[in-house]
Amino acid sequence: MSPLIRNGLVAFIAALILVLGALIYQYERDSSEQDTPAAVAIGGPFTLTDQNGATRHDSDFRGKLMLVYFGYTFCPDVCPTTLATMTKALEKLGPQATEVVPVFVTVDPDRDTVAQLKLYASNFAPDLVALTGTQDQIAAAANAYRVYYRIAKPDKDGDPYTVDHTSFIYLMGRDGKYLGHFDPNVKADTMAATIGKQL
Ligand code: NI
Repeated sequence: MSPLIRNGLVAFIAALILVLGALIYQYERDSSEQDTPAAVAIGGPFTLTDQNGATRHDSDFRGKLMLVYFGYTFCPDVCPTTLATMTKALEKLGPQATEVVPVFVTVDPDRDTVAQLKLYASNFAPDLVALTGTQDQIAAAANAYRVYYRIAKPDKDGDPYTVDHTSFIYLMGRDGKYLGHFDPNVKADTMAATIGKQL
């Protein structure tokens, strides 16, 4: 065996061991995550501004459940539909709804000013907390909730842009910890029943 081939072979085997090691590590990580759902950290501290211009922290809502949804007011379909479902679910809960704070966080702070959020929020649950902030504050909140968002290029130049975003609704406990999430197309009855079990 020439030294060149031998060196190549050694490098190849070393690379193989590295790849195998990485695969085994990843496999063990995945299976341990499945065993302990509590390890999925969704949610966390945020500092944002509500539709009345007041600074709000996630800790302001301790002692109540939170329904947290990220979107933007110019969203043509998913956001208004989802917020309407949240509103309906809270109506179905009746007086118990005072134990649940619906929270809407914009992923489009450039257009979703405090005034724009105030206007938009008036279409939904009366106690909806609509939040905006700086790009950094929004990014930090979205990151805490594992929410992805990205400004999409409009089909035609000059058209308003849209924002691709994760559309889950997160149900958070009285201690601020993640309890579960709803799909955006969940029925209001289902949502109300699931929330009701946590009250
Ligand atoms: Ni949307």
